[in-house]
Amino acid sequence: MEFTNARILITGGSSGLGKATAQLLIERGARVAITGRDRSKLKQVAAELGAWALPYDASKESDIMAMYAEIDHEWGGLDVLVNNAGIGFFGPMDEVSWSDFETIFHTNVFGAALIGREAARRMKAQNKGNIINIASSAGVRGFKNGTVYAASKFAVRGMTECWRDELRPFNIRVMLVNPSAVPTAFNVENREEKPLKDNMLRPEELAHAMVSALAMDDRGFIPELGVWATNPF
Ligand SMILES: NC(=O)c1ccc[n+]([C@@H]2O[C@H](COP(=O)([O-])OP(=O)(O)OC[C@H]3O[C@@H](n4cnc5c(N)ncnc54)[C@H](OP(=O)(O)O)[C@@H]3O)[C@@H](O)[C@H]2O)c1
Repeated sequence: MEFTNARILITGGSSGLGKATAQLLIERGARVAITGRDRSKLKQVAAELGAWALPYDASKESDIMAMYAEIDHEWGGLDVLVNNAGIGFFGPMDEVSWSDFETIFHTNVFGAALIGREAARRMKAQNKGNIINIASSAGVRGFKNGTVYAASKFAVRGMTECWRDELRPFNIRVMLVNPSAVPTAFNVENREEKPLKDNMLRPEELAHAMVSALAMDDRGFIPELGVWATNPF
């Protein structure tokens, strides 16, 4: 796809993978909207990047609808959705509570589903578009203490397969990106980004993967992309 003036929504763009992806897409000439719950952080990051700040909560349907109303008014459509906003929860399976599942699924699954639904409605009308869902290596393989988070990302992977089948006839490319561990603010209580490490991935590698996948000519696409650190051991 062509990036110049492309209309791109990145949920959770005020930190980590979303922020790095927004930066790279803006450098390529795209118009990028980013979302986040912390309004002052979002405003500051948007000003730094030259992005459009949309302070909406991905876990609330009313926020999602208000966000798309702004996008419709300003852009009249959408070329790319990066469905990235996500949160973590880790703990033993015999200690998880109903509310742990509710909290994580509201953002990672229900919110992502409705944000995808609204993108699909607009892209079907345009007869073109791109959706990148961010799952995780935890969406492909479970692990100790991962019950709630891995279940949410397996769900994202499952939804992505359904969307891909439904939306291909409308020239909509639905892609899944599965990052492995990246030091970010992910699962950090005070929301500060962790320091980078030499042997681990940086948000930039994920940004590079997403922008490269999008850059491919529209006649083709990469359905699923795993990104691993070469030697994290
Ligand atoms: N980092 C990793 O190791 C890793 C590995 C695999 C997959 N992932 C996935 O990658 C995605 C991005 O994670 P990250 O590492 O970049 O984490 P991050 O640094 O914590 O960034 C998450 C972003 O999402 C926003 N966000 C969270 N909940 C939101 C909500 N309900 N509504 C709107 N915005 C929300 C955050 O802003 P606010 O907090 O201000 O809302 C922030 O901008 C997530 O889906 C995560 O599951 C991460």
